Amino acid sequence: MSTLFSPMDLKGHALPNRIAMAPLTRCRAGDGDVPQPISAVYYAQRASAGIVISEATNVTPKSCAFEKAPGIYSEAQVAGWKVITDAVHKAGGRIFMQLWHCGRVGSEAILNGEAPLSPSGVNDDLGTLQVYGLMANGRYAQIAATPSRAMTLAEIQETIADYATGAANAIKAGCDGVEIHAANGYLPHQFLSATLNQRTDQYGGSLQGRLQFLKEVIEAVLAKVDASKVGIRISPFAGYNNTRDPNAKETFTAVAKMVESYGLVYLHVADTNAWGGTPDMPDILKTVRPHYTGCLMGNGGIDPVDAQKMVEDGALDMVAFGRPFLSNPDLPARIKNGGPYNEARYVGWYGGSEEGYTDYPTL
Ligand SMILES: Cc1cc2nc3c(=O)[nH]c(=O)nc-3n(C[C@H](O)[C@H](O)[C@H](O)COP(=O)(O)O)c2cc1C
Repeated sequence: MSTLFSPMDLKGHALPNRIAMAPLTRCRAGDGDVPQPISAVYYAQRASAGIVISEATNVTPKSCAFEKAPGIYSEAQVAGWKVITDAVHKAGGRIFMQLWHCGRVGSEAILNGEAPLSPSGVNDDLGTLQVYGLMANGRYAQIAATPSRAMTLAEIQETIADYATGAANAIKAGCDGVEIHAANGYLPHQFLSATLNQRTDQYGGSLQGRLQFLKEVIEAVLAKVDASKVGIRISPFAGYNNTRDPNAKETFTAVAKMVESYGLVYLHVADTNAWGGTPDMPDILKTVRPHYTGCLMGNGGIDPVDAQKMVEDGALDMVAFGRPFLSNPDLPARIKNGGPYNEARYVGWYGGSEEGYTDYPTL
């Protein structure tokens, strides 16, 4: 029987435990969306995770839901990330970069006056989209999403190539792997939804058509990076960013089969509705587990005691913690000890400096 603390050889990654740090957007990039040395301190503090997953990182300047999230499309960004990955490795850890394209979740205010890109320009629900801008006083505030427009075929091809370049850049920056962000209503998730994807070309229509964008993203990334270094994150039933997939069970059964067929290093299932108090992990597991035999990582409102049970039962192979890792840099040691845990304070979640970022105490 495995426990949270059973070491694991995950396709060549020697993990000391089954605990991951979930991706957490923290909005502390500098000019040119280059990550800063303070982020090296923050990530290195959390290096005792089996895998640290980075904050969502834009693969193109055409993607921006949170101002001052970092990118991975310029040489300066690669150099900035190298400082972070070196610090994590020096502290004994491993780090995967989450590759992000926000698609329709954006605003021309933070996209250099350009319209956000989306599968079909569905804009009946802009008030539900989570877009954040940096105010002149240094605070973050939700700003209005502006209407997206449907991507041309050329833009789809360009975007797929952006993921491949982002993945190659992440490895060049010293990351141990990448995580394709196909969760939480961002671009790949938008293509999967029959509500948001109303295309009549090869990227829409049937289930196969709606899977096509993600399939080509995976294949483009795999052309640059070995499958042992490519994971993926999904959130099948998430209401966040209003994806409204009317056939989520069918869609994500097919996604699980697809991930299985490519032999990716892990499938990360996020129970995003659990943040709002309506967990659906049992349904997620029923949807994906029968079709996926690889390393299944779960996240979302899972406390350490439940995490331990889920790994012992074999329901999950790894558990990722978000807010608990934000506020407890030494989370694995605390779990082993049975606590105590620092509470996550809202201050400094998005933007700012050390406060709420690097100043949480260890045991
Ligand atoms: C401040 C903050 C930033 C987040 N940023 C991301 C992100 O960049 N990518 C992502 O997939 N999820 C993101 N999430 C979601 C978390 O990864 C995780 O799913 C969520 O916190 C629920 O897990 P928890 O109950 O362990 O905190 C974020 C959550 C928080 C609180």
